[in-house]
Amino acid sequence: MQLPQLEDLRPVGGKRVLVRCDFNVPLAGGVITDDLRIRLPVETLTWLLDEGAGKLTVCSHLGRPKGKPDPKYSIAPVRERLYELLEAQGADTGRVELLENLRYDPGEEANDPVFVQLLVKNEDLYVDDAFGAAHRAHASIVGPPVFLPSAAGRVLAREVEVLDGLLQDPKRPFVAVLGGAKVSDKLGVIEALLDKVDTLLVGGGMCFTFLAAQGHDPGGSLLEEGQVDNCARLLESAQEAGKRIVLPTDIVVLSPDGVFGAGREPEGEMAIVGPDVQEEWLGLDIGPGTASAFADEIEAAATVFWNGPMGVFEDPRFAAGTEVVAEAVAATNGYSVVGGGDSASALKQFGLDDQVDHLSTGGGASLEYIEMGDLPGLAALREAAARAPKRG
Ligand code: 3PG
Ligand code: MG
Repeated sequence: MQLPQLEDLRPVGGKRVLVRCDFNVPLAGGVITDDLRIRLPVETLTWLLDEGAGKLTVCSHLGRPKGKPDPKYSIAPVRERLYELLEAQGADTGRVELLENLRYDPGEEANDPVFVQLLVKNEDLYVDDAFGAAHRAHASIVGPPVFLPSAAGRVLAREVEVLDGLLQDPKRPFVAVLGGAKVSDKLGVIEALLDKVDTLLVGGGMCFTFLAAQGHDPGGSLLEEGQVDNCARLLESAQEAGKRIVLPTDIVVLSPDGVFGAGREPEGEMAIVGPDVQEEWLGLDIGPGTASAFADEIEAAATVFWNGPMGVFEDPRFAAGTEVVAEAVAATNGYSVVGGGDSASALKQFGLDDQVDHLSTGGGASLEYIEMGDLPGLAALREAAARAPKRG
């Protein structure tokens, strides 16, 4: 996809630039637990400063404060980290301002024109480097390109280039691994992926609706009854197209009285069963046989895309499936792309986050891009470029 690039904004000297980043980092008690989303766009900011930009007004959302100030979502820890990173690059932070959390104002999510005007007032140029939020048609994302010459920052441009590579000319075999809780969130992306991949490996809570479509009993596991027919249809159409959807053959289950989750006192009895689950027992991870079969597929692939954990990996009793998949994605000789969100935190938890070819900063955004082939933030940049008087 053609997007206007930073170079298209030249000359930048003396200009005031509004820069939208996605600094929506995970916080634990006000402490940033993963700063990837702050580290990456530093490249964009230093490029603009080196080009002589007079002032950068940087902005982002953080969490979901619901349109009013909430100290829990203060941008302050992000600001501190951003300035540290900029200073480490020898950047002139005197020319950089980071606005408070955009979502403190209800106008951001409502894409309120008054809020857009507040953002663009006194600005000369707009740079969108917030790939992780490009699927949100919010004021700071789709508003400024209507009024200011606009371009994609380096992070956004790279993310789109990587996904385009996957979708347009992947080396084969192309294996996608999907997990996560809900199949209803992923139907569209599964359909789109089936068009592109050779093999789709399905784990996580969503596998039970697929298994149910094959006539298996999910016991007390997550099941979306309304989606069983859709899953059956996907299984059938994959088969007709000569594609494989691979489902778990064994499952790690917890007894009905069991308690699970991050930091919970481990309670209940565990077993490996499958693919049928006994009444009221909960399937919480793929079993070791499935994990090793998935790993074989991943290691033999030439292209791998992974999104979503295989089980409740925050609970060490149900982390093995996700860990085996993460290790295989890290080890494969194939080109590996991992969607953000939970799969990114899983990689980090296992210390493998620097061992994949591309770790996306956007989970929801990358899935929506695969499904729709476009995102509101990208369309806004292209429209701005189409409106701009041709240069040179
Ligand atoms: C994300 O973390 O997924 C992005 O920053 C978007 O945040 P949102 O899901 O709250 O819109
Ligand atoms: Mg999200």
